[in-house]
Amino acid sequence: MARIVFFTGAGVSAESGIPTFRGKGGLWEKFKVEELATPEGFFRNPKKVWEWYDMRRQAVAKAQPNDAHRLMARLEEECGDVWVITQNVDGLHQRAGSKNVIELHGNIWRVRCLDCGAVYYEYTTPLPEYPPKCKECGGMLRPDVVWFGEPLPMDALERAWDLSRTADIFVVVGTSGLVYPAAQLPYVAKENDAYVVEINPEETPISSIADEVLREKATVGMREIYPRLRERCGE
Ligand code: OAD
Repeated sequence: MARIVFFTGAGVSAESGIPTFRGKGGLWEKFKVEELATPEGFFRNPKKVWEWYDMRRQAVAKAQPNDAHRLMARLEEECGDVWVITQNVDGLHQRAGSKNVIELHGNIWRVRCLDCGAVYYEYTTPLPEYPPKCKECGGMLRPDVVWFGEPLPMDALERAWDLSRTADIFVVVGTSGLVYPAAQLPYVAKENDAYVVEINPEETPISSIADEVLREKATVGMREIYPRLRERCGE
């Protein structure tokens, strides 16, 4: 039975109405990464960072998973050994029904207390105040996501590395492949003889090592490749 691993980025949620980071209309065109997605930016102005995250939380709350998320979840249900490694923090893979999800960059619905270290899911949006306070101790909360300059959660990274090494088919969907260490994973898969597929309307650094490239949006590419993946994982 073939192990299928999806590696996803912001592009998989684009058709759900969630903006990507880079490219035309991307978040980093309008907003400054160093102000909003670094620890230094947060400690300089936690209110501003929280306002931005809460705006994104509201957009995610209104969004629905699309067919790309759904087909990945369906494949997992049908085949079992199917995994999603995601750089996204929106939780749309889980809402589509995927259970085997590795989140490399955290989750936008999770908060972490800077005083007592409590970590919990907080789904209220808009939040009552910026920055919000810890329900346990009243301390200042931060979003439990990975910012630039911060390490990735070790357990998630190890699991992702392992899955990439052992994948038979590695499908890269909607990532620019520019942010490391996550962007290393397709290379790890390739070096270990996985069949690497890229689904992305634009060329990326990953295109050149892919065995197959679908220059399509995520939903179109996933609809196209799903029957073949279904066949392979049933072997
Ligand atoms: P990017 O915004 O860098 O890249 C999005 C990719 O999705 C681009 O290659 C687009 O061509 C592609 N794309 C756009 N629409 C698409 C669609 N409908 N279907 C398929 N692909 C589409 O997003 P990421 O690669 O996820 O990190 O960015 C990586 C990390 O950089 C993010 O996790 C975030 C960001 O800053 C942190 O915040 C730490």
